[in-house]
Order: sequence, then C-alpha cells, then structure tokens
Amino acid sequence: MFYVVLIILFVTIIISILFINNRYKHWQRRGIVGTKPTFFFGHLREFIMGKKNLAFVIDDAYKAFPEERFIGIFEFTKPNLIIKDPELIGDVLVKDFSYFHDRTIDPANTHRLNRHVGRLTGEKWNLVRTKLMPSFSTNKLKSMYSSMEQCCNILDSHLRNHLSHNDQVDVKEVLEKFTTDAVGNCIFGLEYDSLTNPNSLYFKISQQLFAVTPRLIIVTILRFVNPKFLKWFKISEVNPEVEKFFYNLLYHIEEFRKNKSFQRNNLAQTMLSIRDQEMEQNDKNKKIVLDNETIASNLYIMQSAGFETPATALGYCLYELALNPEIQEKVRKEIKDVREKNNGSLNFEALNDLVYMEMVLTETLRLYNPGNSFRRVCTKAWKVPNTSLILQRGDRITIPAHSIHHDEKYYPDPYKFNPERFSEENKINLKPFTFLAFGGGPRTCIGFKYAKMEMKLCLATLLTNYKISPCSKTEIPIVINPMTTQTQYDAKNGIWLRFTTI
Ligand code: HEM
Repeated sequence: MFYVVLIILFVTIIISILFINNRYKHWQRRGIVGTKPTFFFGHLREFIMGKKNLAFVIDDAYKAFPEERFIGIFEFTKPNLIIKDPELIGDVLVKDFSYFHDRTIDPANTHRLNRHVGRLTGEKWNLVRTKLMPSFSTNKLKSMYSSMEQCCNILDSHLRNHLSHNDQVDVKEVLEKFTTDAVGNCIFGLEYDSLTNPNSLYFKISQQLFAVTPRLIIVTILRFVNPKFLKWFKISEVNPEVEKFFYNLLYHIEEFRKNKSFQRNNLAQTMLSIRDQEMEQNDKNKKIVLDNETIASNLYIMQSAGFETPATALGYCLYELALNPEIQEKVRKEIKDVREKNNGSLNFEALNDLVYMEMVLTETLRLYNPGNSFRRVCTKAWKVPNTSLILQRGDRITIPAHSIHHDEKYYPDPYKFNPERFSEENKINLKPFTFLAFGGGPRTCIGFKYAKMEMKLCLATLLTNYKISPCSKTEIPIVINPMTTQTQYDAKNGIWLRFTTI
C-alpha cells in the first residue's frame, strides 16, 4: 500500500512539474519575450515572500526589454501581459474599452462586500458606476467643501497638540487618520473620530483594510492562481470584522436618515435614496441596482480607496517639500497670493488658482504613484494592433504605471522631483497615456476630483501654518515597504518630518 501511495505521489508531482513547465512556454509559443519565471511562483516569488514591492517586481520585467511594446510574465502559472507602449495602453483603456471593461473575468463571490464598483463586471459595473458618478460631480464636491475644511481644522488642532510635546511627526499615520475622517464626514455624512480618539474604531478598520495578514497572503495567492479556489474552499477575502463593520455602518446611516434635520447630500445618502426610488417603482421585472449588499460593498470600497491613496500621495508630497525648501516656499507664496486675491479666504473655486500646487501634486503622483499598477482582463478576442497576436477572453493585462512614470523615454532624469515637468509650457510635450496615476478611460478613478480637492485643501492648511523640514528620523532615500497589498506604495518606516509653527 505504502508503495502504491508513493508511486501515485511521484506520478502526480511529475505531471504537475510537466504541466507547470509547459504553462511557462505560453508566451514563448506566441512569440512574446519575458524574463524567466521561477518554478510555481512565476514572477511573483519576491512579492509573495514579502521581499519586493510589486511595483519593483513589474519594473524588473519592464526594464529587461527596453524596446518591446509588451512583455509576458506569469502570476504563478497564469500568464499576464504587461503593456509598455503608451499607444497600446490608450487602445486598451479607451479606444478598445469594449474588450477590456473588466479587471477580472471571475469576481469570486466569497464575501458580502464584493459587489462594489471596483470589482463588478460588464453591465452590472456600468449600471452601478452610472448611479455613483453624480456624487462626485463638481456641484457635489462643492457641497462637501465645508466638511473638508472642518476636517482640515481638526488636523491642524491635532498637530498643534502634538507639537506642544514633540516637533517630529510621522505624517503617514496622521494623514491616514485625516483621510479616514474625510471619507466619513464628506462621503458618508458621519462624524468619524480617527484624529480625536486614539482608540477610534473607524481608524482601526482603515488599518485592517490594508493589513498584511496570513489570511491576506493566502487570499492573494489563490486570487493570482485562480479566483475560483476562494469560492471552492469558501475562503472569505475580507476579515469578518470588516464585513460586519460596513453592514453596521449602513444601518447607522439609515438611522441618521430617519432624523429629518439630518440632510447631508453625500454619496451614502444618495445611494439610499436611489434604492428607495427603485423599490417604490416596484417593477418586478427590473432588478434593484443599489440593493443593501451593493450599498454596503460600495461603502467598503470608498473607505478603502478613499483613505489610503490620498494619504500616501500627501505624505510623499510633504516629504519632497521638506527636502526641497525652495519649492515649499513657492507653494506657500502661491497659497498666500490666492488667499489675498479672494479677500483672505480659500473657497472651492479658488483651489483652481493653485496652479503651482497642482504641478507639485502631479509630480508627487508621478514619482510616488499610490496605485502603482492596475489591471484589465480581455473579455473577447482582440487582435493587438500591428501584430499577429490575438488575445483571448480571460487573458490578464497589467498597465505598469510605476514603470512608465520612471521611464526616461517619457520623463528625463526620472527620479528627480521636478514639478516643472507639468508646467503649461512643458505639459504639451508629454506623451498621451504616460501619466497614469488615476488610471484611464471609462474605468478611471471615480474619486480623482475629490482626492485633488482634499489634497489641495490639506496642503494649503499645512503650509499656511507650518514650515516642514527633515528631522533626525527622516529617511533619505525613503524605504518602500516590500510587504504590502498588490498596489500599495507604502513607506516602510513611516514618513518622519519636523513641523515648526509659522
Ligand atoms: C491620490 C488619490 C488616488 C489615486 C492615486 C487613485 C488611483 C486609482 C487608480 C489607479 C484606479 C484604477 C483606475 C483604472 O483601472 O483605470 C482607481 C480606481 C478607483 N478609485 Fe481611486 N485613486 C485615488 C483616490 C480615490 C478616492 C479618494 C476614491 C473614493 C473616494 C477612489 C475610489 C476609486 C474607485 C471606486 C475606483 C474603481 C473605479 C471603477 O472600477 O469604476 N479613489 N483609483
């Protein structure tokens, strides 16, 4: 018996090895180049082992073939095409969007927060996105402005308090608290307390959303290998506490709503109003688009996407301003001039006049892109222009935003922080689809205008009140965390800076 088991095991191992090695010939058979995969892990060994941030893993493959328009890698045994040519990126994101409207072919339904705009596919995605879009219109952002100002004032008080006993600040943590509260206040119409309460549940949840835990590592591996495994093994992608939190949040928002004096015109309330209208219409043939599960899922994605990325961008922006005092002074002077022009205030419209600040933020997003790569999946056969290659339904695609942003073909001296790249005169020389911080095409970041408003108002508050400089704990260069979720570009040891009250 023992020998029979041994033989079966041996044959299984041999067949698996042959199968995997055959899989690794996938791109070669199609005439596509790429660096050599590691057995079983493909190109993800260093990322999964927590040794290299995914941005740098993709960058190694990107740089190995400078002249190629696309290259093949493997996520474990699954092939993934990295598109390097900005023109082709434009085809995928915009021109041929109807072939690439999804990020995954199989949104494994393993938890109750899965039905959000970032994960949904096809027509369902389109319906939900169309319902959510008006909540990020210019008018809606304008109506959020005073809540955002309030969040900035709380940030200012928090910093003053902190500075009374320590002038060194880990801006990463403080900004994550600020952006968490901003999502709660401006997008959900609730009073989050991350900055005022050291034991805030809201901040605890934000931290859990990106915590690298054994569960996350297993989920990440299974999603790369085959998302169906999650369904088969009944593994929830989301921590049960997080799932419970967002369903409770929905309940709280409903309760607030019953109070007539509470009429905040925010995304959460808008979703509930749409749900109620759909239910009132009571058309049995039409499925409700924004049911409770979809609403809770969207609260989840808005908090996840809405707190981490702007906090990352703002943190690195302050870091660069500390290292480049002349740029910091120029932004500060612009803020002062714009305030003076507007009788001392900085209203919603005046943010548009902060042109140099916008250049500084754009350069920060280029150099330290918080969403350092993003994905698409081919949904029907697509012939790659000017080649004989045909991508098939289910083929995975990566847009290597970090690598494009650091390619000297598009950005000379790419590691230098130089906001002038984005001045009116220089902007016209930029090649289309080489600035990809917010993605592109119909599936571009839904919150990018909100993020810009938030980042500008926050910077204006901080630079008006504080001079920011390096301190003994400031890392130069900063160490990027190798052990993060897929797209994070996190500072491993925080971002420490000195704040001096002006
Ligand atoms: C500096 C800040 C931000 C950056 C750099 C950023 C970056 C990105 C990127 C690269 C994508 C993928 C786009 C694509 O696939 O073409 C994305 C999607 C998305 N972002 Fe953002 N984001 C930011 C802020 C926000 C904020 C504040 C929110 C919400 C309040 C948000 C919500 C979303 C959502 C829901 C999606 C999925 C959209 C869809 O699939 O239709 N993001 N973001």
